Amino acid sequence: LRIAVLFGGRSSEHDVSVMSATNVMRALDPQKYDALPIFVTREGRWLVSNFSDGELDRPAAGVEICLVPGGRGRVLTIGPDGKAAEGSRIDILFPVLHGLHGEDGTVQGLCEVARVPLAGCGILGSAAALDKDIAKQLLKAAGLPVARSVTIHQDAPPALDTLETQLGLPLFIKPARQGSSVGVGKVSGSQEFAPALAEAFRHDRKLLAEEFVAGREIECSVLEDTGGGLFVSRPGEIAPAESHGFYSYNAKYIDENGAALKVPAELPAEVEAGIRGMAARAFRALGCDGMARVDFFLMDDMRFVVNEVNTIPGFTDISMYSKAMAASGISYSETIDRLVEHGLA
Ligand code: DAL
Ligand code: MG
Repeated sequence: LRIAVLFGGRSSEHDVSVMSATNVMRALDPQKYDALPIFVTREGRWLVSNFSDGELDRPAAGVEICLVPGGRGRVLTIGPDGKAAEGSRIDILFPVLHGLHGEDGTVQGLCEVARVPLAGCGILGSAAALDKDIAKQLLKAAGLPVARSVTIHQDAPPALDTLETQLGLPLFIKPARQGSSVGVGKVSGSQEFAPALAEAFRHDRKLLAEEFVAGREIECSVLEDTGGGLFVSRPGEIAPAESHGFYSYNAKYIDENGAALKVPAELPAEVEAGIRGMAARAFRALGCDGMARVDFFLMDDMRFVVNEVNTIPGFTDISMYSKAMAASGISYSETIDRLVEHGLA
């Protein structure tokens, strides 16, 4: 089975995607899969990559590759000399891209146009989950608890006073369409507000101001089977180091001691059951299919809110998706097999 693994990409999570895809490539059983890694440059060009000695090549130039519309897996390659050639047909595309231009329905739409099976979530769920503003509206409409927030557009940013009245302090400023906490800032007073807005607007035209929820970070992996049934993993917990204040990009990927993962999370059985049920409802509410990781905050009184849904969750060494699946009896390679089966069904 020829599986194309897309990685890198145009989003600010480019480097995270490289880490994720390296792990996915290592987990693909060569007896079962003929894997074709495709490096998406920061400009968005697709270049044929190579996987050797456990590492992925990130070529600066080389052979470009594209899917033929309606081609059911036909690909064309374009050499450095500009000559096009028919490449080996692919059976399925696995986008291991995070954030915009990959996790947001764009590549998923390309697969529909090319009539190529896709591993993971389709167009609608991807687009809905990636936009934190839209996702929140859908989650709320489905009766799921979410943190209070105010949507901020570039043309009319509110005053901090107004936000403070509605959300209290501290609050978070987040780009609506980013992942890995890129561009997220915590605001405790007026001196932090303008810089937080400016930083977040570097990443998106639409932001969310969100109330601070003091709680534990709990995450569940959801995997859909070919019959449409949902497997929800046991929840895992992320404990960011005190020094980071919240689970920031640095705590996630830069500082080796930035966070500790506890899988499964230590929770009373009824709380675990409630969270797992809520993960499935959130997955459905956003129109997801295939897979997603649903992230929660659990408060001291055991109430929880849905924080966000990631349709291409991280597969890095420190990432929760595969660890929570493994803690629930489904190994990394089996997770990938099931995703592929789901995509081909
Ligand atoms: N956006 C990152 C990759 C995650 O959710 O794991
Ligand atoms: Mg996240």
